[in-house]
Amino acid sequence: MRELVLVIHILLGIIWAGGILFIGWGVYPVAARFPLNTQRIFLTRLMSHTHYLFTLAGAAVIITGILLGTVFGPLRSLETILHTSYGKHWIAALSIGTFALFWGVLVGYREMMLVFTDDYLWKEAEGGDRKPLSQELFRLAALESVEIIGFLVLIYLMVQL
Ligand code: HEM
Repeated sequence: MRELVLVIHILLGIIWAGGILFIGWGVYPVAARFPLNTQRIFLTRLMSHTHYLFTLAGAAVIITGILLGTVFGPLRSLETILHTSYGKHWIAALSIGTFALFWGVLVGYREMMLVFTDDYLWKEAEGGDRKPLSQELFRLAALESVEIIGFLVLIYLMVQL
């Protein structure tokens, strides 16, 4: 049973972190070469479609991570959680994973949708003034990198567990 939960955990972890990295580094730079209106429609639909999948995957990674550490792992008391190296790494992974998930939903996705639905930014860009839109897109990339840093720390913690 532990093996099955671990396989699900790893697969969903790959989908969650890998999916977000693939959109940021693979899909987004290609979409940025399309005409502005196409970019806007494509990215809005892509994000609203994948957002639920990533949120579900992230939540399932956290739940299976809790099970792997407790029910299928050594963490049976508060003492073990607080005073062993395994417990401390697990708490760190739980906190960072939860933070990354909430950041993605409440900050990354929300801000992205605000930018994509802001008519002013896109009309200005179509009229030739791309600066406000570029600034907003740069801000989105900076916000998204917080989640990516979280994933990198999580992977380091997984190796330490
Ligand atoms: C991007 C997110 C994550 C990825 C890619 C990921 C990946 C992995 C991998 C590859 C393993 C196997 C490690 C090994 O056997 O050496 C693992 C194990 C584990 N992970 Fe995660 N993980 C993620 C998030 C989390 C979170 C948020 C938690 C805490 C709630 C967690 C808790 C655990 C636990 C307890 C194990 C079992 C370690 C053991 O006892 O051997 N993981 N994870």
